Amino acid sequence: MAKLTEIGWKEFEALPLEAKRPYLERPGGEGMPYHTLFAQQFDRPLLERLAALANRIRFISKSREGALFLKSFLPHKRAMLYFTQPSSRTFLSHLAACQILGLTTGSVRDTAISSEFKGESKEDSIRTFSSYFDMIIMRTPEKGLAEKMAWELSNSDRPVPILNAGSGKDQHPTQALLDIYTLLRSFETKGGLRNRTVTFCGDLLRGRTVRSLSYLLTNFENIRQMFVAPKELQVPEDVLAILREKNVSYDVSNDLREAVSTSDAVYMTRIQDEWDSAKGESAKIDTSRFKFGAEELALLKPDGIIMHPLPRRDEIATCCDHDPRAMYWRQMRNGMWIRSALIATTFGLENEILNCGY
Ligand code: CP
Repeated sequence: MAKLTEIGWKEFEALPLEAKRPYLERPGGEGMPYHTLFAQQFDRPLLERLAALANRIRFISKSREGALFLKSFLPHKRAMLYFTQPSSRTFLSHLAACQILGLTTGSVRDTAISSEFKGESKEDSIRTFSSYFDMIIMRTPEKGLAEKMAWELSNSDRPVPILNAGSGKDQHPTQALLDIYTLLRSFETKGGLRNRTVTFCGDLLRGRTVRSLSYLLTNFENIRQMFVAPKELQVPEDVLAILREKNVSYDVSNDLREAVSTSDAVYMTRIQDEWDSAKGESAKIDTSRFKFGAEELALLKPDGIIMHPLPRRDEIATCCDHDPRAMYWRQMRNGMWIRSALIATTFGLENEILNCGY
């Protein structure tokens, strides 16, 4: 098995993402990740195993007895949530996932009240967390920091796993896991996640959830991907290059209504103006045709679904919220279950939970 302790940082950093996967696996974990850094670590068997584990945890937690049983798995472990970018769902669902499995947690959400304010580097801060905690769940604006810290910690006296909860404009692997889990559940009794069209709409240039989910979808049979956005915010070339390499059919368009009428899932995203290089840059882009409202809802297939990683602004009208095809609220709760499954897996508990008597 490849080990992060046997490869230098520069050599590791230069590897293609798929080639990094074996270095990030849990020893003896049948391909399951120890560090979770990007979508390229997950193939279909792993995704289906995680989904099955999430379903199991969800079921067990329904009773008081089951919930207490789940809490008995990791009361001896502590998780650090280091979120230096704003977050509601990813922070809270990881926190809840830790609570489900009995982990205690600590957090830093504002570097103005940590020693980074005094000039400590992020690297030293994260190394500090590893002195007190057994897992670090981190969201940062810096692309690659989670990866660098995974390598650093694996090469330290106290290796602890890193879960990437969003890195720059680059990757959001646990969001993609919850998106796949939602798609699997949504189509479970309707022919499964195969032979489908998934449309991404909105800010596809800077949305890290799109990059991660687009990759994960390549694991499933005959999933066509449509990218609908204003030209200034269209999907970046690196995402399309992966689809070509994997012979995945895709289209780039600016016609949401046409895409909706042929889609099984429509994945809306907000304009990510926090990444604007000049203030007000995004506001100059005409996004009026990239919103989902009553007219788009009328075009959606009866079995189609609407997804959104959230938060939303006005890209999905609230009149859609009570339609049974609106999946974004369930998607959010699914995040808690799949993150519980991922954390359980990181600590090597998947077989114990899957095979328990519940
Ligand atoms: N989807 C998502 O990452 O939401 P938050 O920014 O609220 O965590």
